[in-house]
Amino acid sequence: MKDSVRKLEAYQAETPIEAVKDRYHLDHLARLSANESVAGPSPKVKAALRTALEDLDLNYYPDGQATVLRQALADLNQVPADNLVLGVGADELIQLLTRVVLTPGSNMVVPDPTFGEYGIHGDIEQVTTKKVPVNPDNGHIDFKALRDAVDDQTEMVWLANPNNPTGVFEPVAKIQAFLEDLPDDVVLVVDEAYFDFVKDANKTVAPLVARYPNLVVLRTLSKAYGLANVRVGYGIMQDPLYTAMQAVRLPYNLSNLQMAAGTAAVQDQDYLKQVVSDVWTERDKFQNFLTDNQIPFYDSQANFVWLDVGDAPKVGQQLLERGYQIKSSSSPSWVRIALGTPAENAGLQAALKEILGK
Ligand SMILES: Cc1ncc(COP(=O)(O)O)c(C=O)c1O
Repeated sequence: MKDSVRKLEAYQAETPIEAVKDRYHLDHLARLSANESVAGPSPKVKAALRTALEDLDLNYYPDGQATVLRQALADLNQVPADNLVLGVGADELIQLLTRVVLTPGSNMVVPDPTFGEYGIHGDIEQVTTKKVPVNPDNGHIDFKALRDAVDDQTEMVWLANPNNPTGVFEPVAKIQAFLEDLPDDVVLVVDEAYFDFVKDANKTVAPLVARYPNLVVLRTLSKAYGLANVRVGYGIMQDPLYTAMQAVRLPYNLSNLQMAAGTAAVQDQDYLKQVVSDVWTERDKFQNFLTDNQIPFYDSQANFVWLDVGDAPKVGQQLLERGYQIKSSSSPSWVRIALGTPAENAGLQAALKEILGK
């Protein structure tokens, strides 16, 4: 076995909701720990799944090019269809990118904190992960420090925008300036899993892919589109990365059901707009609550907020016992709380106030 794999700790997947409810004798559990959508997908998704199931010959392999979904995503993003690599969630693209780009002994650069999957796959590929702390005052990326961390051995840089767990968004111009300054043989992955929730009009670097062959943009249908269980993600990139990724990807990674659900979801942009608008309302309310109660937080452009509660594991446990599951294992004092329904958010705020003695 590879030494790097022997030492690996598995990604902590979410405990199923029913199991948590049983364990803590809860009638209702607000799952606010995985940045899922409480709205769920467009009703058109289930209708499309029913039709797809009726029409499906289960004995034949699916369309390995996901032609219809690919075209829907190309139309949505105004990018060529042959710049899209589809995956079983953005997770699969993260895995594939590390597999394609990294050679053992090299390094990759990530902000700290950020999404843990990048580091896990870096470890598997036997590279060093160099972590560059975000600005502790506001969570913004320190682009100069990030650039300084890039050396002759660097093969990749990862930027989640907005970042997970901080929720902080970096303007497109800053990322482009960083890219201009980055050696051409270093791949920059901008993971836009939460970009739908950003209020700025100019919120994606996808149009830059045509100009920079070393830029990859990642997206997922797990968050704003409410399809976490369906597992659809995609990457936007040009050659030579596109061809390499298509060659390394498993040929039938998405089933026709995933494709049907994904296509119906991205074609219902009115529904998406409503979901995003509801998230904005709840995000504003939550951040106002934090300001009013002098609880430190970073300004979020995502569907979750990162806040300083003092003793993260303890507050996480106290909230769990009251029926609110949050992410409290990422930092000793900061926790990440996803936005739930208006009722869940109001209940959570009341519980937080009581626990923190505000
Ligand atoms: C920044 C970021 N990228 C990617 C993912 C993975 O998304 P998917 O469900 O598409 O695998 C997540 C999931 O939480 C995430 O937070």
